[in-house]
Amino acid sequence: MLIARTIKDLNTARASLGAALGFVPTMGALHEGHLALIEAAKANGARVAASIFVNPTQFGPSEDFTRYPRTEAADLEKLAAAGCHLVWLPDVATMYPPEGATTITLSGPATRWEGAIRPGHFAGVATVVAKLFGQVRPARAYFGEKDFQQVQVITRMVADLCLPVKIVAIPTIREPDGLALSSRNRFLSQQDRALAPILYANLRTAAASIAAGKDVTKTLEDACNNLTASNLSPDYFNLVDATSLEPITNLTAGARILAAAKLGPIRLLDNIAVS
Ligand code: PAJ
Repeated sequence: MLIARTIKDLNTARASLGAALGFVPTMGALHEGHLALIEAAKANGARVAASIFVNPTQFGPSEDFTRYPRTEAADLEKLAAAGCHLVWLPDVATMYPPEGATTITLSGPATRWEGAIRPGHFAGVATVVAKLFGQVRPARAYFGEKDFQQVQVITRMVADLCLPVKIVAIPTIREPDGLALSSRNRFLSQQDRALAPILYANLRTAAASIAAGKDVTKTLEDACNNLTASNLSPDYFNLVDATSLEPITNLTAGARILAAAKLGPIRLLDNIAVS
């Protein structure tokens, strides 16, 4: 596995990997969810590059940038074992040189949900992903449906900026009890970890009810009440159009429920397709 920490090394490594490169951008602290993206990229038959960069611009001032888990040695072992061909490990000065003057501005699918609760978050995500695409020059890039809004924001950005990369979305990898894998789950106390699967349990129940024709507004309200009764504080739990992410009250093809809830020191983020 090639490891690049400078643009010069990246360019040398990139040149040896051929045109049809698959790419998995990450912030490290890798788990089976990230590795599923590597697997999907490999299954496409191309060489695979991953990046690890804890991107400061997507964290708000009161968020956990400094506390975000950094486990580089273990991450590199996992990527090598997964058959990744190249890992790109840029530093902050490479990604954000002092003379930098360009940030991506977003509307549409970035506006609501995480975009409303975390101002600037998706601008930071889109800007760093565009830079990573320019550096790594992949043919395909793989993103997890765990962050469903992120997938839609990046897909929109790629279309709007005419970037020559195909975005591929991969289903969420979960614990046996349904909790979506996340680098932040390690911060859950034992008690909160036991409560955490309630979010996905309610997503499943609500999706089944809506698919069966039950009233959307009432179903979503019931789910929020269930979460609150179990000590989770929902930020949102809404049925949305799968592309625009605008809220809807009648079921349409590909509709999705997006949800986020606070539990102790962390926010759980999850979603489900309704069909
Ligand atoms: P990070 O949170 O490290 O996630 C990297 C990729 O792994 C994302 O596409 C995310 O959706 C996916 N992922 C995380 N948990 C998953 C799970 N349980 N199942 C499937 N996929 C999962 O998302 C980011 O980093 C950053 O915003 C990034 C895109 C790298 C830009 O900085």
